[in-house]
Amino acid sequence: MKVSVHRKPLLDVLGGRAPKRRPIWFMRQAGRYLPEYRKLREQAGSFLKLCYHPDLAAEVTLQPLRRYDVDAAIVFADILVVPHAMGLDLRFEEGEGPILETVRNQEDATRLKAVGNSAQVNAVYETLGRVGSTLEDGIALIGFCGGPWTVASYMIEGGSSNRELSKGIAARGEAWLRYMIDKLIEESVDYLSGQVEAGAEAVQIFDSWAGELPEKNREDFVEKPLAALVSGFRKRHADTPVIVFARGVGHGHAAIERATGAQALGIESELSIEWARDGLKGAVQGNLDPELLLGPEDVAREAAARLAAVMPMERHIFNLGHGIMPVTRPEMITAVIDAVRLHDACKASG
Ligand code: CP3
Repeated sequence: MKVSVHRKPLLDVLGGRAPKRRPIWFMRQAGRYLPEYRKLREQAGSFLKLCYHPDLAAEVTLQPLRRYDVDAAIVFADILVVPHAMGLDLRFEEGEGPILETVRNQEDATRLKAVGNSAQVNAVYETLGRVGSTLEDGIALIGFCGGPWTVASYMIEGGSSNRELSKGIAARGEAWLRYMIDKLIEESVDYLSGQVEAGAEAVQIFDSWAGELPEKNREDFVEKPLAALVSGFRKRHADTPVIVFARGVGHGHAAIERATGAQALGIESELSIEWARDGLKGAVQGNLDPELLLGPEDVAREAAARLAAVMPMERHIFNLGHGIMPVTRPEMITAVIDAVRLHDACKASG
């Protein structure tokens, strides 16, 4: 095992080095379950205004770090920043989620612009710059984008839906979908590179709807696009580690690990952590069930400690199998972190 040079536990695990402690962070660690987030969102007027206001977005990014002993900050933004920057209208309706202008044929797809220096991506870069300059020692800064399939499915559907339309288009292998996915790969490479240039030290690709595609379409629309995205990104930033979260693909994570060469694979709660430990080669991120954070506390603590018991620290990034749910009590996060730290401390002292 190589000796740590970073002293940032997350970057150590991603670099294959033994960390000084088990890195912990939570998907959606900033968000509606925190009263201080709700207050700032109200002040900003809407979720998107918050996203694109670098001072406020930086503050929201830092909020969970004031409460919790976590090892990473993830820039406060959204996977739909990319289609927004490519020229599609976007708004978020209370209780409904995103409403995105749709792309349903070649003509629509041809009109999509490059993210370039748009106001949207620049705001995210500025947020990263502000957060990066204030982070405490040991805390890594994560940038992110959506996976091509997940973002494409939002562009086709126009919002959250059962994705029947996009799955049909994928099943028929329509040429314009391939064209749009290629465009998304190129723009996502550019966007992730911009985030690294602004201060991101690791990046995560959220392919949240990867598991919805039938296996026969997965290679074309999940595996290959993710591999192309990671390889394009590495040409610009070979030293920045990548976490790929292709949620819901089960044992398919092994093929995604091979295809992308990602330093870590995020895994969903449904997958057995023992399978991930034995079936994957690199680091594993996850996979506590976010539902367990709804209580009771001792059950959540026990499940968190069990994950720590199964996964060796140098290959594990403790996280959930999906984002924190808005109804979660903030104290539950403290309890789970404490359970993991306590488990590791007991193990270290024999
Ligand atoms: O993890 C973090 O703390 C960083 C911020 C972050 C957000 N969205 C903020 C957000 C990240 C990493 C995302 C990723 C994202 N966005 C994904 C992939 C991860 C996942 O959850 O599967 C997806 C699918 C989206 C698209 C999206 N954004 C939806 C479907 C919604 C509405 C549903 C919901 O959970 O509210 C959003 C809104 C959104 N993105 C909120 C936050 C904090 C809530 C907005 C609000 O304040 O009302």
